[in-house]
Amino acid sequence: MQTADTVAHARAFFDVLPRPLGFVPTMGALHEGHLELVRRARAESSSVVASVFVNPLQFGPGEDLATYPRDFEGDRQKLAHAGVDVLFAPEPTSMYPAHFSTSVDVGALGQVFEGAIRPDHFRGVATVVAKLLHIVSPDCLYLGQKDAQQTSVVKRMLRDLDFPVRLQIVPTMRENDGLAMSSRNAYLSPEERSAAPTLYLALLALRESIESGAPKAAAVERARALLSPLAKADYFDVVSADTFEPLERLRPPAFVVGAARFGKTRLLDNLYVTQQ
Ligand code: PAJ
Repeated sequence: MQTADTVAHARAFFDVLPRPLGFVPTMGALHEGHLELVRRARAESSSVVASVFVNPLQFGPGEDLATYPRDFEGDRQKLAHAGVDVLFAPEPTSMYPAHFSTSVDVGALGQVFEGAIRPDHFRGVATVVAKLLHIVSPDCLYLGQKDAQQTSVVKRMLRDLDFPVRLQIVPTMRENDGLAMSSRNAYLSPEERSAAPTLYLALLALRESIESGAPKAAAVERARALLSPLAKADYFDVVSADTFEPLERLRPPAFVVGAARFGKTRLLDNLYVTQQ
């Protein structure tokens, strides 16, 4: 596996890689969820590029940019083992040189749910993904369903700005007890870790209630009641997969979404509903 650490260095590689080229962007601290995206890209492409870049633009003031888990050597080994051809791991100054000021704003879709709690988060995500796609120019981009709103934001950007890239959304990888794998799970205390799978259980209950025709308010109340008393719910809802607008009745494609705080750690999860 080759490693490129500047934009100029990276372009030289990507111009000559055999196509189709699959691309997996990450912020590192890699776990099996990330590696599942790489395996999927490997199975479907002639070349695979992965990026490790903790994107400062998508962290708000007071968020965990400085303490975000980092393990570059471990990540490099995992990616090499999973069959990545080129790892792109740029320095922030290579991605955001002095006077950088352009950004991609996807409008209302980026301002609800996670976007309401984290203003400018999705502008940061859309901007870095746009830059990475220009640098890597892949045929196919692999994103995890784990970050449901991120998939909708990126899908919208690809359509609105005519990126010639196919998007593959890979189902969420979970621990044996149902907890969605996430780099932030490392922040959980042992008690919080044992309570964390109740977020998934609450989402399953919410989907079941709404599928059996319960009014949404009652379904959400039942879901909240299943969450561990250690946790504090941020939101539970059923939303359109295209717009993230709340739905009163299940109208696929939809996401059943939930976010809750376990101590200082905010966990997100979702279920994707394609048909009733
Ligand atoms: P990061 O949180 O590192 O995640 C990288 C990719 O891995 C995302 O597409 C995410 O949805 C996927 N992923 C994370 N956990 C997963 C799981 N349990 N199962 C399947 N896929 C999972 O998301 C980002 O980085 C950044 O916002 C990024 C897109 C790289 C832009 O900076």
